[in-house]
Amino acid sequence: MILGIGTDLANIDRIQGVLTRHGDRFKKRVFTEIEQAKASRRKDEAGTYAKRWAAKEACSKALGTGLRMGIAWRDMAVSNLSSGQPIMQVTGWAKKRLDEITPVDHEAIVHVSLTDDHPWAQAYVVIEARPLA
Ligand SMILES: CC(C)(COP(=O)(O)OP(=O)(O)OC[C@H]1O[C@@H](n2cnc3c(N)ncnc32)[C@H](O)[C@@H]1OP(=O)(O)O)[C@@H](O)C(=O)NCCC(=O)NCCS
Repeated sequence: MILGIGTDLANIDRIQGVLTRHGDRFKKRVFTEIEQAKASRRKDEAGTYAKRWAAKEACSKALGTGLRMGIAWRDMAVSNLSSGQPIMQVTGWAKKRLDEITPVDHEAIVHVSLTDDHPWAQAYVVIEARPLA
């Protein structure tokens, strides 16, 4: 069954502006080491961050919480399989919320899909619950 869906569009130029103004402080506050390493290897650093920003917003919508001041952004993190497919990992408050919405005897799987076409970056998140065998 589907527990939640979320979507978000992020403007790459706006993210570039934040990167220019706040640089490392923004990166370290919002993104995990894996996300920062991926972006720093890319020519389109801002686009890579914008997709991951959109993924965090979309994930918070799928979790049904939305974003509040003071939430730990790094508790919703994107990494990539060797095929390039993105996966979303939740920790801390986001994992706690995921556990709360997951029915007993089920496991939750967080699906994520990303795309960008300048100036937009987009993410979809779907949270599925599967019965435990
Ligand atoms: C997946 C693919 C369709 C992406 O299309 P695109 O128009 O280049 O790029 P988009 O902007 O739409 O999407 C990029 C995002 O697609 C996602 N993506 C990449 N590979 C993916 C895959 N195998 N499955 C699902 N999503 C994938 C990633 O999240 C990527 O963003 P990120 O690298 O910042 O995480 C294209 O790269 C492709 O056909 N790849 C398969 C073959 C390949 O080149 N593999 C290389 C690794 S072996």
